[in-house]
Amino acid sequence: MKRTKVIDALKSTAYGSEICVKGWVRSKRGSKGIFFIALNDGSTIKNIQIVGDDANFDEETLKRITTGACLSVVGKLVESPAAGQASEVQATSIEILGDCDNTYPLQKKGASWEYLRTVAHLRPRTNTFGAILRIRHNMAMAIHTYFHEHGYFYFHTPLITASDCEGAGNMFQVTTKNLYDLKKDEQGKIIYDDDFFGEQTSLTVSGQLEGELGATALGAIYTFGPTFRAENSNTPRHLAEFWMIEPEVAFLDQEELMDLEEDFIKYCVKWALDNCKDDLEFLNKMIDKTLIERLEGVLKETFVRLPYTEGIRILQEAKANGKKFEFPCEWGDDLASEHERYLVEEHFKKPVIMTDYPRSFKSFYMKQNQETADGGSVGYKGAVAPGPTMQGTDVLFPSIGEIIGGSVREENYDKLMAEVDRRGMDLTHLWWYLDTRKYGSCPHAGFGLGFERLILFVTGMQNIRDVIPFPRTPRNAEF
Ligand code: 4AD
Ligand code: MG
Repeated sequence: MKRTKVIDALKSTAYGSEICVKGWVRSKRGSKGIFFIALNDGSTIKNIQIVGDDANFDEETLKRITTGACLSVVGKLVESPAAGQASEVQATSIEILGDCDNTYPLQKKGASWEYLRTVAHLRPRTNTFGAILRIRHNMAMAIHTYFHEHGYFYFHTPLITASDCEGAGNMFQVTTKNLYDLKKDEQGKIIYDDDFFGEQTSLTVSGQLEGELGATALGAIYTFGPTFRAENSNTPRHLAEFWMIEPEVAFLDQEELMDLEEDFIKYCVKWALDNCKDDLEFLNKMIDKTLIERLEGVLKETFVRLPYTEGIRILQEAKANGKKFEFPCEWGDDLASEHERYLVEEHFKKPVIMTDYPRSFKSFYMKQNQETADGGSVGYKGAVAPGPTMQGTDVLFPSIGEIIGGSVREENYDKLMAEVDRRGMDLTHLWWYLDTRKYGSCPHAGFGLGFERLILFVTGMQNIRDVIPFPRTPRNAEF
């Protein structure tokens, strides 16, 4: 008999017809010779109730219907007398597809997040992780649909690379050699000549540089793939392996970039509200009572567009009025998460797109703002900064912090090279990147959205390890 998914069985009104459902037992209870099984097959957060008369089943089968066991149930679909569910199944036969004894790690309800991370191979079977993972899938669909509908091409950038896009030096090396066997030159530098690629290679931290090659040919592209960062930061916002979405667009200026960032995030949030209602309602009830309200709130807000220099002024004013910050926030300092949170959660109480950052802590490829005679610069809407700035535009979100990092790119060859020299960078491996500025260079811009940070926001979860099936963090690569 053909199997009906639980999601379809719950919607069906073909009462009286015989159906077959398959899934895992969430719970079983009994009363006066009647048993009730809550069965879930992952197609929806909702369980279907299986009802049966003990007398119609042999004792051995009934004993094997335990939490976690996998069943195939045939029975009659009937209208349910119980509140909160339209239909249920009156079982006529039950086959145990897989037994589950009392060593099952998910026996008890209310296990901690920490505990569930130690059983990451099974936690997708819990209600919460089921909901998160279905939402994660839906967000991926939202992203592809958004870009496809807006004329962007899905562009595949390499995962193995010889260049460090962000220049932060936190890359995982890729080699086929036993590290002890690598030859060194007189200065003690490793010779990669006989390694697989004949040069030093690593896992990519960002597909942006290759994305720019796509944008300057196809007009508008996006990437969506895993990225890797060997940052030894054990925070609830960092993974060593995370998924990034990187649109890159020719002829896009700073204002249009911010429009794109805002429109894109809102589209994803709206998609979740439109397509993940049951899962969001579950999370809203169990995890975070203000989740749906917060998601709806974001759609109504106009994001604040704030030059960094103005942000610093607001932070210093707060300090003067008695606000305590652990880290300094003088002009030129990279903002700590306490500063971002103050601006987003306390001062503006809505998402902030921050722009025109000091050159000192942003990447080499960003468009440089016009410098003034006194060493300052002029940026967004004529705002003046006391030092050199670049057109980086990050989106800061409540409780998440930085959700998007982006910028307009420096398209002028000489200016880009001047920056490369200032940083003492070695561009041997980036000769191809520089060619975009030599041959038909064009204004362009793009950004990177951390997929898991978006999922954090949309699910209301607190730790990034709990919005990816198998998190990779320092000292943790199990499963
Ligand atoms: O700000 P980042 O480093 O920007 C770039 O890599 C640019 N090349 C992107 C571009 O312009 N195409 O990273 C972009 C985003 C961050 O805003 C954050 O959401 C996420 O990637 N991110 C991380 N997410 C999880 N774990 C980490 N270790 C992350 N590092 C960055
Ligand atoms: Mg960043």
